[in-house]
Amino acid sequence: MTERRILVTSALPYANGHIHIGHLVEYIQTDIWVRFQKLRGHQVVYVCADDTHGTAIMLRARREGRPEEELIADMQQAHERDFSAFDIEFDNYGSTHSEENRNICTRMWGAIRQAGLVREKTVEQLFDPEAGTFLADRFVRGTCPRCGAEDQPGDNCSVCGAAYTPADLIDPVSTLSGSTPEIRSAPHLFIELEQLHEFLEDWTQNGRHLQPEVARYLKGHFLNAPLRDWDVSRPAPYFGFEIPDSPGNYWYVWFDAPIGYMASTQQWCQRRGERFDDWWGPDSDAEIHHFIGKDITYFHTLFWPGMLKTAGCNLPEKVHIHGFLTVGGEKMSKSRGTFILASTWLRHLPAQTLRYYYATRLGSGLDDIDLNPQELVSRVNSDLVNKIVNLASRTARFVQSQCLSEQYPQNDDGLFEHAARQADRLAELYEQGSFAAAIREIVLLADRANRFVEERAPWELKRDPKRQDELRDVCTVALNLFRQLVVYLKPVLPKLAAQTEELLNTPIRHWDDVRTPLSGTPVSPFQHLMKRIDEKQVEAMIEDSKDQDAPEQPQESSPDFHPADSWKDPGDALAAEPIADECTIDDFMKVDLRVARIIEARHVDGADRLLQLTLSLGGGETRNVFAGIKAAYDPESLVGRQVVCVANLKPRKMKFGVSEGMVCASGPGGKDVFLISPDSGAQPGQRVH
Ligand code: MSP
Ligand code: ZN
Repeated sequence: MTERRILVTSALPYANGHIHIGHLVEYIQTDIWVRFQKLRGHQVVYVCADDTHGTAIMLRARREGRPEEELIADMQQAHERDFSAFDIEFDNYGSTHSEENRNICTRMWGAIRQAGLVREKTVEQLFDPEAGTFLADRFVRGTCPRCGAEDQPGDNCSVCGAAYTPADLIDPVSTLSGSTPEIRSAPHLFIELEQLHEFLEDWTQNGRHLQPEVARYLKGHFLNAPLRDWDVSRPAPYFGFEIPDSPGNYWYVWFDAPIGYMASTQQWCQRRGERFDDWWGPDSDAEIHHFIGKDITYFHTLFWPGMLKTAGCNLPEKVHIHGFLTVGGEKMSKSRGTFILASTWLRHLPAQTLRYYYATRLGSGLDDIDLNPQELVSRVNSDLVNKIVNLASRTARFVQSQCLSEQYPQNDDGLFEHAARQADRLAELYEQGSFAAAIREIVLLADRANRFVEERAPWELKRDPKRQDELRDVCTVALNLFRQLVVYLKPVLPKLAAQTEELLNTPIRHWDDVRTPLSGTPVSPFQHLMKRIDEKQVEAMIEDSKDQDAPEQPQESSPDFHPADSWKDPGDALAAEPIADECTIDDFMKVDLRVARIIEARHVDGADRLLQLTLSLGGGETRNVFAGIKAAYDPESLVGRQVVCVANLKPRKMKFGVSEGMVCASGPGGKDVFLISPDSGAQPGQRVH
């Protein structure tokens, strides 16, 4: 296997808040992937940094009556402490407020200017005279100019959906001071992204860098129209870097934030005597992998590659995008106690339980990830503790302070060989980010190993002085099978791996360690590896996180990114298929639409358009359906997801079998088919109306 050089990043957390379990979806996911690649023997550098600039930090520092520098230093310390407590191990953790970052920003800016992409335009923005600052859209509320609804946000109306700018609001009010903002105009600098349209079209659509659903989203929302100019400057007062050739103007936080990936890499290079250009230079052979949440897709898949391309830098190999965390099927909420900070988690539960649980939930798609408290307890107790860890606890005691058999025993029912043969497949799953699928296979291996131990019953051998060699052989097999599982789990559970290394006095250095059994090595006195957890601990943690006074916060989208900007929906679809004749509610109710879960999906021999799906409606009720979605979806990507189906459609005999329903989808067909899914929380079997 050739050694790859891989640079990995997670998004830079904002310095204006603490790390919570939503963030940890991302940092744990990335850390698992990084540890996996390191275990495979590749050269991997994992960098991150705090994202420190912008209005929010400036205002907070003002409120707290101290300089921004002090605030961000404290926050960085807290972030680094939380990350390290969750075993998230960066090779460098920097800050966007660093000299390295300022220098690289200056260089990139120079290149973008030189390429003729920068244009100055006057922008009218609301200014809060009392707070002495321009107002980002989310700091303004007022009356909708279209429908007259009061107290609406600055960018779009929650009642009628109208999109507007804060200056269009009737009776606008600053949420900072309660005062009436005034309109001030100021020159802003814009990057003309449209000049990069062709490049971005190719980069996003060539199938090499983005998940297919992301590519489709970008095509449908942005690339099918001219790209809008991107406003990259903010007038003073602003906490950030002043633009060298535009005094009084500062780079907008989203300009210098991704450059923070480079600045953090540079700090690492300086420490290690490596060349920065070997990672970010145009001739670099390093693969850059970004891990981000879906809310910041736009910045990482359009602006960022555009900037890198213009400055002649190495481009990302892949942007891995994940969904959002829900808890018990709902958005994290302060009043329900599900807005759980990393530090609160640690007061109630071990870090490894969250790492393991997230691994059981993470796939390669963008679906939201649900943390279900009961499921957390049962996954940890019944799989991790009862199946995996138990393998060691029920056998190590019989050989502790002795050695494993001198020869690895022959009569292990082929179990070691079987588990070793999974190495390539499991590696492939980790590589793709399909951690959940990997864990499922690992737990199956644990089941087989436990059956072996039960059949050989070492506790009975123990009582018979004539069968001590046999006892040692059984334990040698069991502990080797255990160690294989731990190698496979090492990216997820580094602590368990370290404990196992100690127990068996042998380091786990490489993924391929699963291929060679240990023999003759001393076994340390057995120490408890991991405890079961109790639902009460989870309840206490939720109680501890409850903030009764908290208003229900909308998930804050990235500052100044208006989803509404992209709602220039073309009329092609309506033109191609005009709206049908009127129907009554009774007509509609004849069609019984139900939420269903795809539990199996496979290719059909001889059918080039169809996939065969098994839909579960809950309670054991299923439907066999043939759907013409083969060009748009891989069967593996469908298993587990929820769809909407017509549950009372008259069964239809087809060449390949009987189709007992239909799944709902839109689009003209071929590759352009889009399945309709319910929001998370829906249950299979629920009627759609
Ligand atoms: N500062 C920007 C990123 C700049 S990258 C050049 C930012 N910061 S953040 O703190 O809001 O989020 C950091 C990462 O955590 C983002 O990728 C974001 O998607 C992710 N998550 C934040 N909350 C999340 C959930 N509730 N669920 C899953 N991921 C979430 O965005
Ligand atoms: Zn309105």
